[in-house]
Amino acid sequence: MVCRGAPKHLILLVWMWAFLGMSTLSACTEERPILVNFGDSNSDTGGVLAGTGLPIGLPHGITFFHRGTGRLGDGRLIIDFFCEHLNLSYLSPYLDSLVPNFSSGVNFAVSGATTLPQFVPFALDVQIRQFIRFKNRSQELISQGSRNLINVKGFRDAIYMIDIGQNDLLLALYASNLTYPPVLEKIPSFLAEIKLAIQNLYQFGARKFWIHNTGPLGCAPKELALHPHTNSDLDRIGCLEVHNKVAKAFNKGLRVICEEMRLMYKDATIVYVDIYAIKYDLFDKYKKYGFEAPFMACCGYGGPPNNYDRKATCGQPGYSICKNASSSIVWDGVHYTEAANQVSTASILSGHYSTPRVKLDQLWLASL
Ligand SMILES: *[C@@H]1O[C@H](CO)[C@@H](O)[C@H](O)[C@H]1NC(C)=O
Ligand SMILES: *[C@@H]1O[C@H](CO)[C@@H](O)[C@H](O)[C@H]1NC(C)=O
Ligand SMILES: *[C@@H]1O[C@H](CO)[C@@H](O)[C@H](O)[C@H]1NC(C)=O
Ligand SMILES: *[C@@H]1O[C@H](CO)[C@@H](O)[C@H](O)[C@H]1NC(C)=O
Ligand SMILES: *[C@@H]1O[C@H](CO)[C@@H](O)[C@H](O)[C@H]1NC(C)=O
Repeated sequence: MVCRGAPKHLILLVWMWAFLGMSTLSACTEERPILVNFGDSNSDTGGVLAGTGLPIGLPHGITFFHRGTGRLGDGRLIIDFFCEHLNLSYLSPYLDSLVPNFSSGVNFAVSGATTLPQFVPFALDVQIRQFIRFKNRSQELISQGSRNLINVKGFRDAIYMIDIGQNDLLLALYASNLTYPPVLEKIPSFLAEIKLAIQNLYQFGARKFWIHNTGPLGCAPKELALHPHTNSDLDRIGCLEVHNKVAKAFNKGLRVICEEMRLMYKDATIVYVDIYAIKYDLFDKYKKYGFEAPFMACCGYGGPPNNYDRKATCGQPGYSICKNASSSIVWDGVHYTEAANQVSTASILSGHYSTPRVKLDQLWLASL
């Protein structure tokens, strides 16, 4: 686990343990599992900012951090609410070279990331390679006496989270001019990357997995605004049908992969979380959750019905922000508001959307 300021007598004790060959015991005063996260903007806590220098500043962050942290949204993300719930500090991006703090875990997620290696620099396979290096280098540094790093036990007890796929689906949809069959054909290649990631992480010691499926892409104000449509292109609640169809096909496959992995890795816990159902419910029953105008971006340009226009996206000259971001589901046309993330987190933490029915807290506390 992460060690900080272990009292002298403990160090002595551990020295004695080490002498007795029990060198895997750590010098930590408190044993708290950590989070290791992979993904895209849904869970990027500053990776793209650190990695590319792209200026992601205000108005992103305006509701909570009051500065640009690299998160795309007005405030906290689901992963931030997980950290709060588990009494962990927010995750530092792996790519952060300026005083990162890995005591709660490490975040490899980068906005724009895809499962497939593409033009974006930090695809899932790169994130996994970065993890392997991070783990290896941590061991080397610990053996040289460095503190405040994650040790072997920390990596073993950690929860490995993956939330990725939406960018692959959207790129495939655009490439096919929004037709379903060509996207359906590509989905197995996306899923194969996630499967490989799980297998690699397992080989490198991961035993607790927390896998998010993808959300209802067709409900995003940006998608609704960019793709001219008639009512026959929309589903019951007004989301683009083809987008949601591909999201559901992807999720079905992801669920199957999780089942396969559970059979293969009997000593691992692999939890699949139905984010789609949670987020779809936000748009469907928005009033129940205190939201208004579900398909309007809070931050953007152009007004109803979607307040999204490429002329002035959120942060670009000419944009404006709605009066109360807490009453919007979507912040900038794509990314969710802090309010929506908070409501979604409550649903996730309930455990009702998990397969198997494991709560995050239980997985966190379980020692396998
Ligand atoms: C987090 O801290 C609060 C207050 O100290 C405590 O009630 C809660 O049980 C803690 N949660 C976890 C998951 O440890
Ligand atoms: C890192 O975060 C932990 C948990 O929030 C905190 O206790 C510790 O002081 C931090 N370390 C540094 C070097 O800031
Ligand atoms: C780290 O990588 C180096 C070089 O590939 C290898 O020799 C070493 O055994 C690795 N260390 C660990 C702890 O995996
Ligand atoms: C894309 O689809 C739309 C609607 O079906 C059609 O009007 C348009 O011509 C198509 N564009 C291309 C490049 O195929
Ligand atoms: C903003 O909206 C939320 C949710 O609808 C509501 O609870 C809150 O009172 C509103 N705040 C203001 C300042 O209007």
